[in-house]
Amino acid sequence: MAVSASIVKRFEGLRARLWEHDHRYYVLAQPTIADAEYDRLMKELLDLEAAHPELATPDSPSQRVGGQPTKEFPTVTHNVPMLSLSNTYNEDEVRDFDRRVRSALGQEPFKYVCELKFDGVAVSLRYSNGMFVRGATRGDGTRGDEITQNLKTIRSIPLRTRKKKKGMDEFEVRGEVYMRRDDFRRMNETRELAGEKTFINPRNSAAGTLKLQDPKIVAGRPLNFVAYYLRTESVGLSSHSENLRILRDLGFPVSEHTRVSKDVEGVAGYWKEWDERRDSLPYDIDGVVVKVDSLSQQERLGMIAKSPRWAIAFKFAARQAMTTLHNITLQVGRVGTITPVAELEPVFVGGTTVSRATLHNEDYIKALDIRPGDTVVVEKGGDVIPKVSAVVKEQRRSGTKPFSMPGKCPECGSRISRPEGEANHYCENSECPAQIRARIEHFAHRGAMDIEGLGEAIVDQLVSLGFVHNYADVYGLQRKREELVTLERWGEKSVENLLLAIEGSKQRPFTRVLFALGIRHVGTSVAQLIVNQVRSMEGLVGASFEELQGIQGVGPRIAESVRRFVEDKHNLKVIERLKKAGLQFEEKQRRSVRRSALTGKTVVLTGTLSSLTRDQARQMIENSGGHVASSVSSKTDYVVVGIDPGSKLNTAQKLGVQTLREEEFIRLVQSK
Ligand code: IVH
Repeated sequence: MAVSASIVKRFEGLRARLWEHDHRYYVLAQPTIADAEYDRLMKELLDLEAAHPELATPDSPSQRVGGQPTKEFPTVTHNVPMLSLSNTYNEDEVRDFDRRVRSALGQEPFKYVCELKFDGVAVSLRYSNGMFVRGATRGDGTRGDEITQNLKTIRSIPLRTRKKKKGMDEFEVRGEVYMRRDDFRRMNETRELAGEKTFINPRNSAAGTLKLQDPKIVAGRPLNFVAYYLRTESVGLSSHSENLRILRDLGFPVSEHTRVSKDVEGVAGYWKEWDERRDSLPYDIDGVVVKVDSLSQQERLGMIAKSPRWAIAFKFAARQAMTTLHNITLQVGRVGTITPVAELEPVFVGGTTVSRATLHNEDYIKALDIRPGDTVVVEKGGDVIPKVSAVVKEQRRSGTKPFSMPGKCPECGSRISRPEGEANHYCENSECPAQIRARIEHFAHRGAMDIEGLGEAIVDQLVSLGFVHNYADVYGLQRKREELVTLERWGEKSVENLLLAIEGSKQRPFTRVLFALGIRHVGTSVAQLIVNQVRSMEGLVGASFEELQGIQGVGPRIAESVRRFVEDKHNLKVIERLKKAGLQFEEKQRRSVRRSALTGKTVVLTGTLSSLTRDQARQMIENSGGHVASSVSSKTDYVVVGIDPGSKLNTAQKLGVQTLREEEFIRLVQSK
């Protein structure tokens, strides 16, 4: 039965509107109708096509919901091989690339186009008479999988181009299929709740999705596309930057962050800028791509092996890498905290080689089901401490066993326990050699007594040879000079230097001494708060639980910990010896507190201040009798907001805590 003209008209109208809305929503990110309205139009189209199957065309928006599953993807041969890029991680190699380009082009002027390197999956899209007809993966560069049905579900890939470019009947677009980080997280959360396998990162998730044989499932996954290459034989093209403009006109999503640069300096600047800004993008990039702009120059430069000589990938230090977890060992801290540590096959990540990474505690290991022998994902960004963030379960070999916390301390064999409500296990033996070493290291550390030359290796040696057993013994080393000189790796000079450093440490103010004692929960700023109140070691030992707890910023947990420390006979003996050695046991200058609007207030700092360092700001607050806290709670009086504030600002707004700009803060501190 022939379809009536009015139905054909209705069908064509629906189709055109849905194409338009896909473009507005997924390419321009400027939707003009509500989701529900879009769904209604799509449903009407699907119903029409169900009633009149002859209306359905390969470019119909109904393709977005996914067609029939395939058994196997057919293999297709790329007309022109999909090359890969040669990679580099350093500027020198980019300068070498630039020299090669310049020498090959002689004196000819040329330009570079700098682009983001999207961390996704490369695909090729073929268009014929404005219609998307075939999509394929890169495969080995020569042959890939035909995945047209899967790609049709990606709404930022036009099923039909918006305009027709004269003469360009056949063309190929290449680009990257990727997943945004927030979509990835949401998808993983849903999968976790449903008890399904989660993906490791957005790229794996995009790659895994494109491999699915059922396009209907692909349609439900949040994939995006960005185009970075155009090829056609039917008309002459002039430059890459012009091609990007054509692609945009045809309705393809093209990155807004592309920049043309006249020389390698501009390239290096672009790389630096994006290395710093990469977290501000909603998707992952793993570097930048630099391309010679002119297509005729590209042609003259040609290629070597499988990569073009006219382009290079200038990568960022990876923040994620996979490696083998050889073993899980336990590290014992100064208060007996047992931290499980991943012993890894060394791997280059975040700019350094990582062979150990924290596993936090037993719960963390259990939640991720991390087992020795596993292939794991290691993450390290910037100055962040490396961590194991995921396990590649597909690569798990048989015979691996889940981790369980041993019952005994690996250092001293004493019982270890996990107090109720805590995530950590503790070694109960305060004489455990590992704890002794860690306490002395902490004592000598820069922020504490700052004894140069008393680092990990030396402490280890002195403890194992029996020279020191607790930190008071450090001040007895003076009398052991002769013996020390004869030790392996030591000599007159190094012993002399160490003893001088030890002597010098006797001048550290009482606050530092208190911090150096290593009382659990007493960090630098808590030590300062306590000293402001108790003034001396005598005052500290004599302070009751109530008095301590009454100090602004000191709660029952800290007060309890301090009391427990000073009630211990052994600790009191050590303190007595430190006093005899001549350490500062009193806060010298009575810091006069100048009253201001911040006196007695609890203040939290977030973001970077432009006229003050964090320490200066803290000092100003403390000098006027205020207290600096590290996190925002309902007890916070003010949050000082600098440039690029963190999540503390959100918390403050949620809790209705008053926020101060830098100028307002300064005015308040100076106020009477
Ligand atoms: S151009 C001959 N541009 O990097 C040039 N590639 O190793 C071919 N990629 O397989 C690619 N962002 O998956 C180009 N802006 C970009 C890119 C990009 C990511 C990926 C692509 C390719 C690999 C090259």
